[in-house]
Formats: sequence, C-alpha cells, structure tokens
Amino acid sequence: MDKIIVDKSKCVGCGECARDCVASAIYVDGGKAHLRTGCIECGHCFAVCPAGAITMSSYSADDCGEVVPMTAIDSGTLLQAMKSRRTIRQFKDEPIDREMIDKILEAGRYAPTGANSQNVAFTILGSKQESIERECVSLFRKGVGIGAKFSAFLRNMDINDSFFFKKAPLVIVVSGHDAVNATLASAYMEIEANSLGLGVLYSGFFCSAAKMLPKVRKALNLPKGHTPVTCMIFGWPDVKYKRVPPRKERKVTVL
Ligand SMILES: Cc1cc2nc3c(=O)[nH]c(=O)nc-3n(C[C@H](O)[C@H](O)[C@H](O)COP(=O)(O)O)c2cc1C
Repeated sequence: MDKIIVDKSKCVGCGECARDCVASAIYVDGGKAHLRTGCIECGHCFAVCPAGAITMSSYSADDCGEVVPMTAIDSGTLLQAMKSRRTIRQFKDEPIDREMIDKILEAGRYAPTGANSQNVAFTILGSKQESIERECVSLFRKGVGIGAKFSAFLRNMDINDSFFFKKAPLVIVVSGHDAVNATLASAYMEIEANSLGLGVLYSGFFCSAAKMLPKVRKALNLPKGHTPVTCMIFGWPDVKYKRVPPRKERKVTVL
C-alpha cells in the first residue's frame, strides 16, 4: 500500500503538498495530487493540506491533537525559563504519575530526526533500576580508586549506593543509531519534564558505565544497533535555586 493516500474526491489540486515535500515525492497532475517513490513519511503533506485529503497509511492520526504554534509560549518567558533550568541531583521520595511519563515520552517521540528515521528508543529502567545501579557503582568504585591517584575530581567523588540514579523515581535511557537524533529527543523530554515541575539529571557517568559493562548492556536490552546516548533521571526537585548562574561569553562568528 502507498505510504500516503490522497482522497481524490477531497483534493483541490492546490499543490501545497508538492511545494512543501522535502522528498519531491508528491506532484499535481490533472488537478489532483499523486505520489511517486521516495516518501519519508514526514507528514508535511498531511499537515499542510487545506482539504484534509491526505492520510498516512502506516499511522493513526487519532492522538495527534490540534496545531499549537510555539508563539503561544511567550519567548522571553521561555528563554528565561531555559536559563533558569538547572541539573537536579537532589530528589524527593515521590513517584511520578503515568500521565506525566507519557507526556515526557511524547515530547521525545515528536523531536525531529534526520530523514524522519524516528529511530530513537526509550528504555525505562523500572524494576531493574536498583540492580543496574549496583553493577555500575561496583565498576566505578574500582575504576575511581585507580583514577583518584591522578585526578582531584575523582578523589572528591563519593560513590555511594545511589551515585548514579540519586534515588529518583524514573530513569530513561534514550538510545539510537544516531547520537544527534537521540540527543534532540532528550532535550525535548527535558523541557517537557521541566514544564511539569520535574527536575532532570543527564547521567553521562551511567552511559560510560553501560558501555563498559556487558551485563548492564544485556539488562538494558536496547534495540539492535542502538547505543545508549543519554541516561535521563527524572524526579521532583528537593532543591530550589534562587538565581541564574553566569556562563562564558557566547562564541559566535559571523562570516
Ligand atoms: C551529556 C551530559 C552528561 C552529564 N553527566 C552528568 C553526570 O554523570 N553526573 C552529574 O552529576 N551531572 C552530569 N551532567 C550535568 C552537568 O554537570 C551540568 O549540566 C553542568 O554542570 C551545568 O549545570 P546546569 O545543568 O545546572 O546548568 C551532565 C550533563 C550533560 C549535558
């Protein structure tokens, strides 16, 4: 079956779909839109069609919701909120609602991916969170013992039993073939989580440990060919920041 189906009785032949198709996979002939090969199922034709004449055969559009432009969010408030976002490492002992988890995952699902590959996966550690953390802690205790001889950063590190996940209620590993796609999905998820009042910690340490520990990689059971790109720790912040810390000057070059 074709990826895109044009209802010829609704199509008005305006050509908006063809003009906006990145793959040039749709064209207008005889006053109607037609599909040729090369469609990447990005849904631009579906989204732009003024007549609602297009359906995407592999997808349901039931849960997509209405268009809300980003301009609905005041840009000054958004910018200041992004500057005020902090990495959270102290969490309250409180669970996160399923609906909130769903919203976070939905934000990740809708992040852009190169060529619309949508090849990003989300692994919730759930019942394995504790056992996986134990493995990682054990590895780090050994490794840091050696590294501490050379690095003050490692010497100061307290690798306690909750070193990786900070007793947070939700840990999601975001994986993919492509680090950029998974990273963008993670950033979307963080912003959505923050807007729900949740705090987030990216655990680079966990990703390093996971790469070194076959047992952890096996437990994660990621899709074939995926590497863990980010490990995101979510929970209710048990810390409140009173001011925005300064940053280095922007490095901007105008050519
Ligand atoms: C890719 C990535 C990996 C990180 N890994 C860790 C980590 O393993 N442990 C940790 O405590 N913080 C980690 N962080 C948080 C950074 O230390 C933090 O973003 C930085 O110090 C700036 O603080 P801010 O996020 O509050 O602005 C990580 C951040 C990023 C983006």
